[in-house]
Amino acid sequence: EEFGDLVAALPRRQQSILELRLYQGFWLPEHWVPGTVVFQRRFSPRPDDVVLASYPKCGTTWLKALAFAAAARGAYPPAAPGHPLRRLNPHDCVPFIDEIFAGGEEAKLDALPSPRLMNTHLPYTLLPDRVTNAGGCRVVYVCRDPKDMVVSLWHFLRRAKPDLSFVETFESVCDGTVAAGPVWDHVLSYWRPSVARPDRVLFLKYEDLLRDTAANVRRLAEFMGRPFTAAEEAAGDVAAVVELCSFDEMKGLDVNKAGSGTAGRYRAMPRDAFFRKGVAGDWANHMTPEMAARLDGIIREKLQGTGLDFAQGS
Ligand code: A3P
Repeated sequence: EEFGDLVAALPRRQQSILELRLYQGFWLPEHWVPGTVVFQRRFSPRPDDVVLASYPKCGTTWLKALAFAAAARGAYPPAAPGHPLRRLNPHDCVPFIDEIFAGGEEAKLDALPSPRLMNTHLPYTLLPDRVTNAGGCRVVYVCRDPKDMVVSLWHFLRRAKPDLSFVETFESVCDGTVAAGPVWDHVLSYWRPSVARPDRVLFLKYEDLLRDTAANVRRLAEFMGRPFTAAEEAAGDVAAVVELCSFDEMKGLDVNKAGSGTAGRYRAMPRDAFFRKGVAGDWANHMTPEMAARLDGIIREKLQGTGLDFAQGS
């Protein structure tokens, strides 16, 4: 309630199932705003915290699983049959940080064992200064070819609004009025600090994760301050993390099957909605060549001169 006036004063747009508000340069679903403000005001990171950040539908669920499996491997060996990721959806293992603040559930954060993992869809510029300043914590970002993001987003939103057209979703991404959009500003908000301070911001691409998951698991573990030891390598622990978090493995779990309930912040979204196809290039089955060229052109123009592109892997 105390945020009613603040929210009402923000520019508003309707996009499919979401009411969006323009907050500090980004279109946030209206219900994210209070949690974002409280997160900005109150969050105080521990030095070994890791914030997992992403644009929606770019690999959040996978990143949560990989980071959790790598960070918690002391307590939960990745090959163990009773591993939490065989019983729980990744969104139920790693909390959405702004949702925690929206719900006044900070005690849950305090109770997490170090290194704490939490995630957000907010752009880097909206993270609290206490995260991004010199004494802050580490941030891992995952992005994805925006064309595949649009396809994934459309399938996801259609779970809540079956008659949503692909073209409508595509157009909202192209003009930036989409949850956490514009996507190019979101990606650049993390790209720039990842170049300036690679020890603080790790920038990953979904396509690179698909190409060589093991190499990226090693990068992730090292970045989090927990590199795999020679003994762990010899025991096959990296491969065990990759296998535990693989698309087929996770999609096949009972907990992630249709009818198994809802996950994390997406209280209204079924857990199986986070596991659709898990490939790169599905855009070709949904977009005309003209649409693909148009979105590529927008992204190319926005990223020009930044050193980042989606045309090839990093
Ligand atoms: P598709 O819809 O293209 O299949 P997010 O987790 O950010 O919501 O992103 C969801 C996308 O990641 C979906 O893409 C989903 O299938 C894919 N995904 C989920 N878990 C994955 C995994 N373990 N490996 C690879 N891709 C995964």
